[in-house]
Amino acid sequence: MSSRTVIRGGLVITASDEIHADVLIEDGRIAALAATGTPAAQAFTAERTIDATGKYVIPGGVDAHTHMELPFGGTFASDTFETGTRAAAWGGTTTIVDFAVQSVGHSLREGLDTWHAKADGNCAIDYGFHMIVSDVNEHTLKEMDHLVEEGVTSFKQFMAYPGVFYSDDGQILRAMQRSADNGGLIMMHAENGIAIDVLVEQALARGETDPRYHGEVRKALLEAEATHRAIKLAQVAGAPLYVVHVSATEAVTELARARDEGLPVFGETCPQYLFLSTDNLAEPDFAGAKYVCSTPLRPREHQAALWRGLRTNDLQVVSTDHCPFCFVGQKDLGRGDFSKIPNGLPGVENRMDLLHQAVLDGHISRRRWIEIACASPARMFGMYPKKGTIAPGADADVVIYDPHAEQVMSAETHHMNVDYSAYEGKRTTGRVETVLSRGELVITEREYTGHAGHGVFTPRSTCQYLN
Ligand code: URP
Ligand code: ZN
Ligand code: ZN
Ligand code: ZN
Repeated sequence: MSSRTVIRGGLVITASDEIHADVLIEDGRIAALAATGTPAAQAFTAERTIDATGKYVIPGGVDAHTHMELPFGGTFASDTFETGTRAAAWGGTTTIVDFAVQSVGHSLREGLDTWHAKADGNCAIDYGFHMIVSDVNEHTLKEMDHLVEEGVTSFKQFMAYPGVFYSDDGQILRAMQRSADNGGLIMMHAENGIAIDVLVEQALARGETDPRYHGEVRKALLEAEATHRAIKLAQVAGAPLYVVHVSATEAVTELARARDEGLPVFGETCPQYLFLSTDNLAEPDFAGAKYVCSTPLRPREHQAALWRGLRTNDLQVVSTDHCPFCFVGQKDLGRGDFSKIPNGLPGVENRMDLLHQAVLDGHISRRRWIEIACASPARMFGMYPKKGTIAPGADADVVIYDPHAEQVMSAETHHMNVDYSAYEGKRTTGRVETVLSRGELVITEREYTGHAGHGVFTPRSTCQYLN
């Protein structure tokens, strides 16, 4: 039995167009669009009609960087796949790509199986996986080929965190060479972790233990150096490269230069680098710990380069790097030693709203909002046009967005499983009203109507983003 929904009267915004159109959904997919009021639109019939007059109709957000239940620093990120995907839906995101972890001494397969077990049957929205490669060896390299065939087509490596996730340049080069052959995309955490560890040790020896020193030792220059090195290694390997969580002006400069040379090099930044700064890391009474993540928050002056990069397409994607740890009981682990504060910030629920605010603030256009939050991540990670747009044949992952509703971000009202908001008290205009995932109502006029297990694993093709 077919089920149809029609969304009438909204402004449909995609990365390429803005049009007042009615959207017909059939069996979980977009069946047709027609300009509102035309005979073609009037001919749409459906069991369910959603009135979107005065609202935006946008593709569900694609957050290509989350860490549900990530083990880090002796604890686990506090959102499960159930709580984290529900919060994502509240924030207008209908697809996440989370990072499965290979532990040193174990296979990629074991790591991937573990992540499937965590997510399977628990997600409110669709999900895919990247694979964190912590141990490059002959076996791992062969496994990368199999993962690409299974739809896990991107691999994160770390130039930071020696002794945990860290890979040396030789391991990175070998993984890049493999991805050049099998079509995989290497995602790089670009910070010189060896040098940073020296600076951490020196800072602690001087008695500099507060959260703000996290930002001081993880220097912008060491992000830029690692970004430069990753670009050169990728060039030698003949592989594309995607640099995650770019925060420093100097790193954007490296990406822009490489792109000017025509290299297939891409960059992601995150809302925390666009909206927060070292001022937050310096908040008193250990409150700065709430803002400890890596790469770290930077002085406010760096934000202009990130916004410019997003406008000039030197940065293509905004993901959250959602990796929440509660202030009480988790961030606490680093009292008296900033290097023991679990790294990561919550944000999966906030991204679409913060970027809409950026539209109102004049940083980006409406269509660029949808491009960096929906279409480009879907393309970058092989899910377009199934995800990331509203077009016939696409999954009916659709958000009805009220561009005029005002809200105040707060831990009191958010749905993420974490005891603070990184944006506590921030006023934004624009709010998610209704969310459909493959045609099914997950949020209905600000009520949760979804269910755990609706979301399914989404195998991905290789990167479709080559300019
Ligand atoms: O601080 C962060 N970003 N935590 C998550 C792990 C990572 O490096 O992405
Ligand atoms: Zn990282
Ligand atoms: Zn991350
Ligand atoms: Zn369902």
